[in-house]
Amino acid sequence: MSTTAATPPVTPAATAVAHANIALIKYWGKADDDLIIPVTSSLSLTLDDLYTTTTVCFDRDAGAGDVATLDGEPVTGKPMVRITALLDLVRDTAGIDRAATVTSANTVPTAAGLASSASGFAALAGAAAAAAGLDLSDRELSRLARRGSGSASRSIFGGLAVWHAGHDDETSYAEPVPDPHHFAADLAMVVLVLDAGQKSVSSRDGMRHTVETSPEYRPWVAAHAGHLASALAAVADRDIVALGEAAEVNAAGMHATMRSAVPPVDYLTDASHAALAAVAAARDAGFPAWATMDAGPNVKVLTTAAEASRLEGWLREQLASDIPGLHTVVAHAGPGLTVTREDC
Ligand code: PMV
Repeated sequence: MSTTAATPPVTPAATAVAHANIALIKYWGKADDDLIIPVTSSLSLTLDDLYTTTTVCFDRDAGAGDVATLDGEPVTGKPMVRITALLDLVRDTAGIDRAATVTSANTVPTAAGLASSASGFAALAGAAAAAAGLDLSDRELSRLARRGSGSASRSIFGGLAVWHAGHDDETSYAEPVPDPHHFAADLAMVVLVLDAGQKSVSSRDGMRHTVETSPEYRPWVAAHAGHLASALAAVADRDIVALGEAAEVNAAGMHATMRSAVPPVDYLTDASHAALAAVAAARDAGFPAWATMDAGPNVKVLTTAAEASRLEGWLREQLASDIPGLHTVVAHAGPGLTVTREDC
């Protein structure tokens, strides 16, 4: 009679890496709050140095609930509710009821308008789907990530991505922008980190309030299709001047919609305005440089890969006395989502 040693049960896990993206043409406002269907389509550049690594393991009893850590700290409150909501979608699709352990690490300052929710929910979607045994296409992953945070739909893809607004769950997804000449590789962003603290108004609340109260919101939406068309034409023509101009006008318009909301929402600080003036001065000095801002005070400057370091140095010099704590990052086009299956 032979005996075999009992092998411990193996629980599948998966680790995903997703990179942040910065919208050149923005998403601001939802047509459907539950499904996160945006009012407008959007265009983004995925960045190399700013990313989230997330491991998901469905190793807990259903009744024990999900647990998550971000950079070693337990996640609680609203952020945890959003994580569990995304995991529920995965559990429903996969037909499993186990609760999960989620371990996440960020190279992006969390919730500081540096797109940490984009990389965070893209990584969570990729890791959770794989850990649950689902084999999703990139489009399905984009739709899943979208349910966590709209901008995450674009972080499934490297380089330039467009999120088609669509009109329902199936038709609202991101995909890569055709880029046969690798224009994305010519682009860079100088990120001016003016304040890495948490923002006081979430993008979710800020956009809802803007849609509901701002008289400037509908005019911005009406102009938006033209901004996106110009930006996509600029990509096809490899024309960074036209791309930068479309990005700057679109972002400035988005912030104008917030400032005219009742009461106003203004994510920009004195330091942001000093940074915007420095970007305009950089352009006057001959640099390729166009500013974009999201739901936070930080300013991201679109430029060429060739000029990025020189521009970073120039901007640091200009802003040194106004913004003593200035931190800067130069980012280039980054890759799409990667997922590795493993055991817990
Ligand atoms: O990160 P979200 O999905 O809550 O939305 C943020 C929206 C902006 O960053 C302000 C613009 C964009 O298109 O990313």
